[in-house]
Amino acid sequence: MPEIFSPIAVFDSGIGGLTVLQALKKRYPQESYVYLGDTARLPYGTKSPEIVQRYSQSLCRILLNYNPSAIVIACNTASTHALEAVRALAAPLPVIGMIEPAAAAAIQATKNQHIGVIATFGTIRSGVYEKELKKINPHIKASSQACQMLVALAEEGWSSGPIATAIVRQYLDPIFDTAEAPDTLILGCTHFPVFEALFRDILGSSVTLINSGEAAATQLSGITGTRGQIKMLATDDPERFAANASKFFDQGLVAADIELIDVTAAS
Ligand code: SIN
Repeated sequence: MPEIFSPIAVFDSGIGGLTVLQALKKRYPQESYVYLGDTARLPYGTKSPEIVQRYSQSLCRILLNYNPSAIVIACNTASTHALEAVRALAAPLPVIGMIEPAAAAAIQATKNQHIGVIATFGTIRSGVYEKELKKINPHIKASSQACQMLVALAEEGWSSGPIATAIVRQYLDPIFDTAEAPDTLILGCTHFPVFEALFRDILGSSVTLINSGEAAATQLSGITGTRGQIKMLATDDPERFAANASKFFDQGLVAADIELIDVTAAS
């Protein structure tokens, strides 16, 4: 077990959650973090709720070995299907998911009460964002679109260029090509902030983009860290993790920085 002092534990299906780690690190630079990417079992967005819950529980069990001070589920799909299960497993630790903070930030931002939501197939199919938005404000209109292919594009590092532009347009058009389009868009997958410049180009500056990781970072309290260490773990292929991480995270990584974890031992 590595020497790391009471870190905030962050997990995701892969490297998209590094956008959440980035937001956390920016807000709480003195804190220590352990990040676990389930690169062996990515993507989560196409899997059943039961499987996503089981995978999330196994990641939580691994992270509890690091004596964390809190757990952040840096994956909207896992937050959708496994928040309560992870809370039960990690109690009494605080467990932060992505959905409620992003919904609350979107409600605060919207002026025309119309919010767009883009996320994985699983998150959109669950209707979790609509439910959460309407729980806060029953009069909100939500327009949702599953954008599963963006997960693969992001993992591939194709966050700009003609192919990414065409695919992003195809996904956004049904939501925004109407007279009464949303003025706020929830990026309901932690992979999606890498497309922020593209979203901006296509949507212009009148649409507010809600980054679920940044919204969730505001929810942590009682932060006491003083060491600023970061430990990276992956369940498969540290080389690919390191090669792609720089698109999501400002700290350069090499494969030797990433510990390979046998996820089957915790399942
Ligand atoms: C994925 O693994 O499909 C992405 C999960 C997410 O961030 O919702």
